[in-house]
Amino acid sequence: MDLVQKAYTLALTARENAYAPYSHFRVGAAFKLKDSDQIITGCNVENASFGATICAERGIIMKSFADYGKAEFDFAVVVTKDDPPAPPCALCLQVLAEFCGPDFPIHIADLEGIKKTLCLKELIPHSFTAFTPEE
Ligand code: THU
Repeated sequence: MDLVQKAYTLALTARENAYAPYSHFRVGAAFKLKDSDQIITGCNVENASFGATICAERGIIMKSFADYGKAEFDFAVVVTKDDPPAPPCALCLQVLAEFCGPDFPIHIADLEGIKKTLCLKELIPHSFTAFTPEE
């Protein structure tokens, strides 16, 4: 199985683990770490204070920093049951733009498989980049 298919399968499983008692909209995601075969998974975790909800994609960024000290990836897979399947939200795209280049591929999938692949710059052509990151 190639790594994109493996990531898709892992994202499907992560989606099952979503905590979404308010929206009932489950999201699973899996990002492949650069220079490694490691795949990091995420799911949305909602909260009674709705704004405290964490999206699947941003959860992966937190997990990646905690476990590997970086957030460098080759590609992402995002799975929803939406028709057509949903891309990451604008908030997540802005966060991804901090760490992933403009050509970063995002595979957008539903429960049957990957339906579309778009790169980051197609989804967020004008991310906010006013500051230069410092250590
Ligand atoms: N959600 C994600 O996990 N990722 C996105 O990119 C968009 C939205 C979640 C947040 C919330 O739990 C549910 O989907 C409905 O907005």
